Amino acid sequence: MTAPTQVEGAPLPMNLREPRSGQKKGPSMSSEHASAPLSAPANRPIVSVRVSEPAVVHPIGAGTILITDDEPGIRASLCLFLGRLGYTVIEAADADTAVELLGRQRFDLVLSDIALPGTRTGLDLLAQVKQQQPDVDVILMTGHMDVDFAINAIKRGATDYFKKPFLFDELKHAVQRCIERRRLLEKARDLERLQSRHDALKGVQREFMVSLAAMIDAKSPYTRAHSERVSAYARHFGTVLGISDRELKIVTTGGRLHDIGKLGTPDSVINKPGRLDAAEWEIVKQHPICGAQLLEPIAMMRPYVPIVRSHHENFDGSGYPDRLKGDQIPLTVQIVKIADYYDAITSDRPYREPMTLREACDTLTSEIGKGFSDPLVTAFVAMLQSAPWASKGAVGDVQL
Ligand SMILES: [Fe+2]
Ligand SMILES: [Fe+2]
Repeated sequence: MTAPTQVEGAPLPMNLREPRSGQKKGPSMSSEHASAPLSAPANRPIVSVRVSEPAVVHPIGAGTILITDDEPGIRASLCLFLGRLGYTVIEAADADTAVELLGRQRFDLVLSDIALPGTRTGLDLLAQVKQQQPDVDVILMTGHMDVDFAINAIKRGATDYFKKPFLFDELKHAVQRCIERRRLLEKARDLERLQSRHDALKGVQREFMVSLAAMIDAKSPYTRAHSERVSAYARHFGTVLGISDRELKIVTTGGRLHDIGKLGTPDSVINKPGRLDAAEWEIVKQHPICGAQLLEPIAMMRPYVPIVRSHHENFDGSGYPDRLKGDQIPLTVQIVKIADYYDAITSDRPYREPMTLREACDTLTSEIGKGFSDPLVTAFVAMLQSAPWASKGAVGDVQL
């Protein structure tokens, strides 16, 4: 294998339009400049050339380019030119060497001649690059280009092609476009990775909170799966009302979280077999505030805070903790509140039987103007009367 050569900080080579007579590949790039001694004129930067293994450090960070051409002079010219532009350049004399290098390190761009010694051509190398590092652009160079060649190269995935001889300025712009595209692609991928990690974290946080809320329900046989049912009723009612997808998500998750503040309510109060006394009621009435305080510091849980804090507010302003009234109570909160209320009156309690569908509808209707607005109750009762699961009477095992 040819030892890769890395060139940095070379002076600009001359225009390579003038082919040298008797060159192997017809009107190809001149290598005379690159073949010249690499001592720099007094007013030019010092050129350094070193042969090294391709464990490349990116000295300037502009990008790493693999050049494949069997003519040492052309490789050297390109190394000088691209090195002068700040790129790290690795060279290979044939496709096999290039493929080996591709397996060992990451490149930002491959610049390859078509006619290469050995069994593989530049088009074979192009195919290999697209297989090994699909995001890497490939620019092909040839001394004999026709329309068919150009179409074939592009069809196979080449980003650009040049007929020798060409102006280095043209090559420079093509290289810059490829590297820039590569950088933008990498940034987009980084953002995508960050976003997916962020989404995963959000999912974990939400599931954690939902699990906490379910633990509270499980504390008492009378509230088991209460939040799950409230969530299902709220989602069903929200769908009937035609709320947006975002609102639907908020009422669904909000329904599961609405009583999360009961984490701060003593078990003796939650599990009390009889009716609560005034002091115990005051303790229970703290759970919306407690829940909101729990969720507020977590940015992704904030959309659910209104439901958690205000699901005991009443339409007439007699609720708690903020005595909101009418339109001050967001629709998503009203949806979860009526679902919560319905589940409470149709669930078993140690001191009463669960209400039947008819009794529940009558009770809800009696709350018009008090706990709920007229349109909300009317729509909810209509939904119950047309829902097969509601007509069963017992809703404890309902599957919405
Ligand atoms: Fe509650
Ligand atoms: Fe509840």
